[in-house]
Amino acid sequence: MLMSFSASVLRFFTRASKRTPRPGFHELLTQHTGLSELFRVVPGNAALEVNRELFMSILTAPVPLGLKQIVDSIDDVAALPDVTMRIIQTADDPNSNAFQLLKVVSHDPALVAKILKLVNSSFYGLPNKIASLDRAISLLGMGGIRNLAIASSVSGMFRGGELCAGYGPRDLWTHSIAVAVVAREFARKLKLPIVDEAFLVGMLHDLGLLVIHQKLPKELRAICEESQRQERGFSEVERELIGFDHQDLGTALATRWKFPASVVNAIAFHHHPADAPEEHRSAASLICIADTLCCHADEGFNLTACNQQIDEQMLAAVPVTAEVVVEIQNKVKDLVALACPFSG
Ligand SMILES: [Fe+2]
Ligand SMILES: [Fe+2]
Repeated sequence: MLMSFSASVLRFFTRASKRTPRPGFHELLTQHTGLSELFRVVPGNAALEVNRELFMSILTAPVPLGLKQIVDSIDDVAALPDVTMRIIQTADDPNSNAFQLLKVVSHDPALVAKILKLVNSSFYGLPNKIASLDRAISLLGMGGIRNLAIASSVSGMFRGGELCAGYGPRDLWTHSIAVAVVAREFARKLKLPIVDEAFLVGMLHDLGLLVIHQKLPKELRAICEESQRQERGFSEVERELIGFDHQDLGTALATRWKFPASVVNAIAFHHHPADAPEEHRSAASLICIADTLCCHADEGFNLTACNQQIDEQMLAAVPVTAEVVVEIQNKVKDLVALACPFSG
């Protein structure tokens, strides 16, 4: 019993994030156990009386899962098929070529069919029908094919009960694809050499939320309610209530899936791009801007960035002007509508 209480208190301490100031021991106990309810001064006596019922309920309360436990079991929620993992490794290997990628993808006829269906959708607007995988690879490149394979594998993970009042997992997928197409549009418009990567990170940036939804559903509902009630930053509320945020879990997934550091860091810092390593700050800022625009436009699940603002530091890091941001902001609805083939 006593061990369980100590573990709970220890967990409250270990949960304190580097961004959230650590509360003191008294504050923690008051916040989490209701110290005044637990102890009361006996009238006419200096002694404290313990509310035994509450004390016992604290001792026996289940301890919510911590970050390490969730990361250790992350494959239960979000494991990519072997063929998709091999596609990622081949596409990201500078020594591999289109023929090697063709060989890997060809092993999965169902995936080939899905890729060809997406390639021939209105999203790409190609003038002629693409009937073969090698033609699709030559048109979209290895990064483009990798993105389609990941989209095909990941979209099926967005299932299950609601995330919180008014939002289901499919709303989160709609949001993810919205950020992907808007981030890609920025990269194209600005002629950045990360067009495919911008789409990939946009698609995966909030995947950590899916893990929280599976592992800590009650806590996710509380986080959503708290961030809406107080109009506060979503990740700050996550850190306060569960000790980590969806960026941490997204980082764990991207690392597990062997993505390059640029992708991992853009996911890790998409709500705090100023904290990203300098070489990856541009991509993290780009995703932060795209995310903010999509949330402000109510595209799917929008709670993670609806209270977030685009600042000068983000614009300078990309770099992008406020005029271009407004130009793309005015196109968000059209871009998202064009991406509807990814929703199926
Ligand atoms: Fe996010
Ligand atoms: Fe987001």
